Amino acid sequence: MAAGKGTRMKSKLPKVLHLLAGRALLQHVLDTAAELSARQVVLISGHGAEEVEAAVSRSVGSTARFDLDFVRQQPQLGTGHAVQQAVPVLRDDGVVLVLSGDVPLMRADTLRHLIAACAGDKLALLTIDFADPTGYGRIVRCGEVVQAIVEQKDASEQQRAITEVYSGIMALPAAQLKRWLARLDNQNAQAEYYLTDIVKFAVADGVAVVAHKIADALQVAGVNSPLQLAELERAWQRRSAEQLLEQGVRLADPARLDVRGTLECAQDVSIDVNCIFEGRVSLAEGVRIGANCVISNATIGAGAVIHPFTHIEGGSNGGKDAVEIGAGALVGPFARLRAGARLGAEVHIGNFVEVKNSTLATGAKANHLAYLGDATVGERVNFGAGSITANYDGAFKHRTVIEADVHVGSNCVLIAPLTIGAGGTVGGGSTLSKDTPAGALSVARARQVSIPNWKRPAKSG
Ligand code: UD1
Ligand code: CA
Repeated sequence: MAAGKGTRMKSKLPKVLHLLAGRALLQHVLDTAAELSARQVVLISGHGAEEVEAAVSRSVGSTARFDLDFVRQQPQLGTGHAVQQAVPVLRDDGVVLVLSGDVPLMRADTLRHLIAACAGDKLALLTIDFADPTGYGRIVRCGEVVQAIVEQKDASEQQRAITEVYSGIMALPAAQLKRWLARLDNQNAQAEYYLTDIVKFAVADGVAVVAHKIADALQVAGVNSPLQLAELERAWQRRSAEQLLEQGVRLADPARLDVRGTLECAQDVSIDVNCIFEGRVSLAEGVRIGANCVISNATIGAGAVIHPFTHIEGGSNGGKDAVEIGAGALVGPFARLRAGARLGAEVHIGNFVEVKNSTLATGAKANHLAYLGDATVGERVNFGAGSITANYDGAFKHRTVIEADVHVGSNCVLIAPLTIGAGGTVGGGSTLSKDTPAGALSVARARQVSIPNWKRPAKSG
C-alpha cells in the first residue's frame, strides 16, 4: 500500500519516495519482498501514482525478481478499499502479505515468521504492545482467541485500554482475502473501508486468526513526518554501525557514520568521524579513512589511506565508472576523485587535486593543486603542483598520455590530445600542445628577461 498522501511530510515528493539510507522508503519494502522471494508484487498507489510507478519501474528495471503489477486507488477510501484495487491482478492461490510502503525497517525474518504462522490457511496478524496505543487498531481477544481489530475511533472505553495493536501487516490466503474484501462496508466512525474488518469475517467463517506479536517497535514504525524519517534514519544507521563494529571495523564513533548503500570492509579497517558512504563501497584490509570523507561507488585497496576531507564520487552505472584505488595509495587531504578515476598501487594524490576518468599507474604522484582529466599516467610519473590536463576544447574531450617516469614541473598546461614520451621532463610553466619525444626536456614558455637596475615607478614627495 502506497496510496497515502503524506501531508505531514510537507513535500512535493510522494512520501514513499523519500530516502532512508539512500533508498526510497518504498524500495526498502520492495527489497524485503524480493528477499522473501515473492512471486508477485502488487503496488497500490494513489497520490503521485505516476511518479511512484515511474520510480519503481526505474529501480526494479529489467532485473525484477518478481512479477510487478501497478494498480491505482483514487480516491483513497481506506485500507480495505486500497487492497480491493489489487483484486483483479491478484492470483487466487498462494499467500498474500499486506505491507505498507512507508514502513521501511520491517525485517524479512519477521515476515517469514508471520508467513509461517499463516501456514497457508490462517489469517496471521503482526501485532505489538504499545504503552500508548492511541491511534492504532486494537487486537480484541476472547481469552487468547483473536476476535476482531477495532479502530481507535470505533473503540469503546474498555477497548481503548487494550495495549496490543495491529501493526498494519498481515498474511493470509489470497482466495479468502478476495472473498472477504467483497464483503467490506464503510459503516464506521470514519466512513472508510477498513481492511481490518476482515478479522470479523474470518472469525464468522471459522478461519483461525493468529497474532504474531513482536517487541521491536522500529520494525513496524511508519514514516509520516520529517522527524519520524530522521528518527528511522538514525535507527538504521545505528544498526548498520553496530554490524560493522561486530565485524571488527574500528569506527571512531558509531553515531557519526552514514552508510547509504553497501559498505564492505575487510579486516582492520578504521573509519574516523563524519564519513558518508554511498552506493557500493569496498575497503580492503587495513584501509584507513580519515575524518569527514564522502565516498561513493569505490573500491579501495589494502593499506590505502584516505586522509580527511576527501571526496570520492564514483559513477553508479553498474560499476563501470567506479573509482578504484590501489593498495598502499595515499589520497587527500582535500582530494577529489571523480567517475572513472583509477589509481594503481602506491599512487599519491594530495591536497586540492582532482582526478576524473584517468588511470594512474603504480607509484604515480600528483601531490598538490592539480587536475588530471581523461589522462593515462604511467608508472612513477610526478605531476607537479598547479599542473593540469586541458582535456576539453569546448566541444570534445581528448586524452592525455603521460608515459612512465615523466616529470611534469609546476604550473604546466598539457593541451590534449597529447603524449609526453617516457622519461621526459616538462619544464615548469610550460603550455604543451605537441607530443614530446621520450627522454626529452620540453620547455614551452617565454624566455626569461632581466633588465638591470630597473627603477620602479614611484610617487614623488
Ligand atoms: C491502519 C489500521 C490500524 C493499524 C495501523 C497501523 C486499518 C483500517 N487500520 O490504520 O488498525 O493499527 O494501520 O499503522 O487498516 N492507505 C492507502 N489507501 C487508503 C488508506 C491508507 O493506501 O485509502 C495506506 C497508507 O498510505 C499507509 C497504510 O495504508 O501506507 C496505512 O494507512 P494509515 O492511514 O496510516 O493507517 P490507518 O488506516 O489509520
Ligand atoms: Ca487513516
